[in-house]
Amino acid sequence: MTDTLNRTVAPSGPIKGTLRVPGDKSISHRVAMLAGLADGESTVTGFLRSEDCLSTLAAVEALGARVEMDDAAIRIAGTYGRFKTPEGQLDMGNSGTGMRLLCGLLAGQELTAGLTGDASLSSRPMKRITDPLGLMGANVDLLGEGGCAPIRLVGKDLSGITYELPVASAQVKSCVLLAGLYASGETTVVEPRRTRDHTERLMAALGLPIEVDGLRICISGCDKGVPHFPAREFDVPGDFSSAAFWMVAAAASPGSSVTIHNVGLNPRRTALLDVLRRMGASVDCSLNSSGDVAWEPVGTVTVSGGRLSGTTVRGDEIPNLIDELPIVAIAGALAEGETVIADAAELRVKETDRIAAVARGLTATGVSVEEKEDGMIVRGGGQLKGSVEIDSYGDHRIAMAFAVASLFADSAVVINDVACVATSYPEFWEHLRLVTS
Ligand code: S3P
Repeated sequence: MTDTLNRTVAPSGPIKGTLRVPGDKSISHRVAMLAGLADGESTVTGFLRSEDCLSTLAAVEALGARVEMDDAAIRIAGTYGRFKTPEGQLDMGNSGTGMRLLCGLLAGQELTAGLTGDASLSSRPMKRITDPLGLMGANVDLLGEGGCAPIRLVGKDLSGITYELPVASAQVKSCVLLAGLYASGETTVVEPRRTRDHTERLMAALGLPIEVDGLRICISGCDKGVPHFPAREFDVPGDFSSAAFWMVAAAASPGSSVTIHNVGLNPRRTALLDVLRRMGASVDCSLNSSGDVAWEPVGTVTVSGGRLSGTTVRGDEIPNLIDELPIVAIAGALAEGETVIADAAELRVKETDRIAAVARGLTATGVSVEEKEDGMIVRGGGQLKGSVEIDSYGDHRIAMAFAVASLFADSAVVINDVACVATSYPEFWEHLRLVTS
């Protein structure tokens, strides 16, 4: 994102409200891709109509699926297992998920494709997917400097592999599993820690031959044929990572309370709830009873504020709240004592270097932060200073995390470069107004 629109966010009284947040970003990307390959027409409700997911939808359309949208739903007519060579480049915008997963899905199909992205995406590591794809026999070249996009891909016959992920990454896991669908034999991915399992759940819901055994996930390929699975209806739950901003805003001030309905509660995404409880917030969570067991758990979360105290977030918890770490650092700044974030070096290769961006923003508001290679120590409890400017570095989650921080400053804060919020949460400013008025 290069837009430089800025926003001034004023301090607020108690945070109150009931919201539904827009659809889950990770699930929307995956549904667009697999509905695009299904036999027949899928109907998708709750799809996240943000820049990221619309880029993936446009790519799927360019690959041969038919896409129709109205206010209520998106209908995707699938390609019966075969994408075609697109005209022109596939522009994946800002989305690491879109680019990495689509490369896996295309690598074993009979087509050629070029994938590009914005400046942020073109600086993110892509060797982490071309390494395993290369082992499977794929022809995927990184044309950018230092192992980055643009990507040139020529579909090849793939062979299944067993791949131990060197980093705990759901994107890399998903890329290999999606490639495995088009490979001969079995493809097994072994995770170092549990990461989000939306790909596995979606494949299971579509009847695809996937098996999960602890940290090992195995998919049977279709041996030079193409996979066939029926189109279906998908209702995408609200994005827990978007809800997280309001949960922290409410948690950090006694007298505040927010309720989020219809939010995804996949247990590999909800570690923030444990962190907020540890810090002293009151968290009430209930699952909706209806629904398809192979699909995603959905429910309602209410968070009420308390006096927060610092905590440590590390190890297996990290992949479970990887996208929430900027807002966890803000919670740390609003809590008494130290909050330690460790084992989170992956934050350095997100849409921006999120460790550096958070440390700079917090320092500007007068918070003491010690930056570590794999995290940070935030010393909280003081009054956040306003009348400062904070840079989002074009990263949606940095912009939104500091918008929440600004509610607690002693005067208004200007956040620079906030158009990026549209990447994942186009309604963010409207919802900010709702919970603060
Ligand atoms: C995602 C996985 C995570 C996350 C990203 C979305 C996904 O990335 O940070 O926002 O949809 O699989 P990594 O898997 O690279 O950690």
